[in-house]
Amino acid sequence: MDSHNEAIPHAPTRSDSDDDVIVTVMEALNISRRSNSGGREEEVPIYMTWKDIWVRAWVGKNESKSILEGLTGYAKPGQLLAIMGPSGSGKSTLLDALGGRLSSNTRQTGEILINGHKQSLAYGTTAYVTQDDSLITSLTVREAVYYSAQLQLPDSMSKAEKKERAEFTIREMGLQDAINTRIGGWGCKGISGGQKRRVSICIEILTRPRLLFLDEPTSGLDSAASYYVMKRIKSLDHKDGIQRTIIASIHQPSAEVFQFFDNLCLLSAGKTVYFGPASDAIQFFASNGFPCPALQNPSDHMLKTINKDFDQENELGPDDGGNGIIPTEEVIRILVNSYNSSEMNQQVQAEVAMLSETESICQDKKRSHAGFISQCIVLSKRSFINMFRDLGYYWIRLVAYMGMAICLGTVFYDIRTTNNSIKDRGSFLTFVSTFMTFMSIGGFPSFVEDMKVFERERLNGHYGVCAFVIGNTFSGIPFVLLVSLIPGIIAYYLAGLQHGYEHVLYFLSVLLSCVMLVESLMMIIAAIVPNYLLGIMTGSAIQGLMILLAGFFKLPSDIPRPLWKYPLHYIAFHRYAFQGLFKNEFQGLKFGTKNNNVITGEEILRDTFEVDNSYSKWVDLSVLVGMLVLYRVLFLVIIKGTEKVKPFVASFKLVSPKKTIHVMENPNATPPTHGHYLL
Ligand SMILES: Nc1ncnc2c1ncn2[C@@H]1O[C@H](COP(=O)(O)OP(=O)(O)O)[C@@H](O)[C@H]1O
Ligand SMILES: [Mg+2]
Repeated sequence: MDSHNEAIPHAPTRSDSDDDVIVTVMEALNISRRSNSGGREEEVPIYMTWKDIWVRAWVGKNESKSILEGLTGYAKPGQLLAIMGPSGSGKSTLLDALGGRLSSNTRQTGEILINGHKQSLAYGTTAYVTQDDSLITSLTVREAVYYSAQLQLPDSMSKAEKKERAEFTIREMGLQDAINTRIGGWGCKGISGGQKRRVSICIEILTRPRLLFLDEPTSGLDSAASYYVMKRIKSLDHKDGIQRTIIASIHQPSAEVFQFFDNLCLLSAGKTVYFGPASDAIQFFASNGFPCPALQNPSDHMLKTINKDFDQENELGPDDGGNGIIPTEEVIRILVNSYNSSEMNQQVQAEVAMLSETESICQDKKRSHAGFISQCIVLSKRSFINMFRDLGYYWIRLVAYMGMAICLGTVFYDIRTTNNSIKDRGSFLTFVSTFMTFMSIGGFPSFVEDMKVFERERLNGHYGVCAFVIGNTFSGIPFVLLVSLIPGIIAYYLAGLQHGYEHVLYFLSVLLSCVMLVESLMMIIAAIVPNYLLGIMTGSAIQGLMILLAGFFKLPSDIPRPLWKYPLHYIAFHRYAFQGLFKNEFQGLKFGTKNNNVITGEEILRDTFEVDNSYSKWVDLSVLVGMLVLYRVLFLVIIKGTEKVKPFVASFKLVSPKKTIHVMENPNATPPTHGHYLL
């Protein structure tokens, strides 16, 4: 045994023989793994313990409610701990608390230790599969997993190795038959719900994490699909030889699925009804007077007994005096009290104490991702494919833009240089820089879908915000070019605006910048309000205000001063688009007036449109480009900022004295103030 193996925590357990088996298996696996991974840092299995976990959430201004009430438990390598309970009992919250991803309106107390340390695990060591599958629906299963492998696995692995890992993982989850099928979502049929779940799991286990959290991996699946999903999860160890610690919340396991559980944590309304070997649970119920009727699935029986959502009453078993009927509240109370005073509870407490004292070194060599540049390239590619295949992203917009350009071009067809054309040119340019660009709001729903995938991947640490923003910007460029150049050229030449390539190019550049600006604005809005309707409303309102104040509907000198002119007139990017486009169009032209006089474009700019001629149109374009960069940076800052602000807001709540009054509700529980704040 080399020094690595000695570092493996020999965690004390009740049965020494168990321990020996684990260590022997570990040794065997370490040897085989070393030869596979070419001397990679050996991996310490993960023992997780939690003690007296309380979680409360603020539901109203001054109202809080307990979600978890003093939970204690542990999870060990090579074992599957199932968290069961009726819906709303706190399963997801417990997983979130253990995975360190509780939402910001909650407060948590208690002690969570990993191998005896209060530490967060390095990237790649732990993975969390959430309840809803946020996947890129336009990709095939192979593409989704392969791109994810390219993002998550380090550059030291070759492309072929990453591909092999992806394929292996796909086979591991039994998805080889659907490998070339698109994932699909609303509007296009793709793989089934069960397969989607397995793709989500696949993506998270690519890095071979040793601690795996799964939130209801079988919900929404039929019993056969649930069985196979759980079987795959359970047998992961056998396939790649990594001792995983798996914690899964399961809603309604069949008897066969129940067999896979090593330990069971049964919750009801945030309290532990049972924690211990899954095989002993039914005996625990029977000994408290609730035996499982013959031919009934034990998990169904347990869940039915402790479900208080429907005011049903429970019949006591024959051992307890025959046909006594008691309400569920009472049943839960009996079971919780019985568990609290049981020997099993003592054993769990002792186990937790022992495991948490075993301060093994979790010498996590931080696993590396793919490098930043590779991440940007992979994200650009992946996003490009998605934009290409998703009709709603750009194609529908392209058709709408072309139609609009033809309408615009024919309405203003052959504009000439008559007196009337002065107003026409002004209207044409205004329309292009406002309404045409406004239509870019249409890509918002697709972007919100992208953001959901990004949120999940970022929470799981696959890549950072910068890589996402860069990838998204680059992948969008060819499409934005299409969407602005083709309609722009059609409208420009149909109307016959000022001739000369320089003028056309300038016009197209402004149109392109404006479309990108609207997209960037919508990205910022998506980061703040990730809801279609609210987002589109907010985006429209902001743009409406900017258009109003840009200087066409009300001339700059007439805009009321304090707020509307300073600063809003100058913040509105449409102002610079107007100024630039008007200069581009009018400078150098001469128009005939009604009295047969000639008026120069410069005079019109100065007197009619109040355009500032003191600087060049290129300055306006530069301002637009500068704003574009600023908007993207702002998007990045907002996403990063919300990450930082959330814990701050939560800690602010933590010290709010008014709210702590509501905290103590459970007479049995240890006061939460004894625990550690782990926010
Ligand atoms: N962030 C939160 N804010 C307010 N209430 C919450 C929050 N998270 C969970 N809850 C509430 O806590 C209870 C348990 O939720 P959850 O852990 O999601 O249950 P389960 O996963 O067992 O169905 C539910 O009643 C839910 O409404
Ligand atoms: Mg849940």
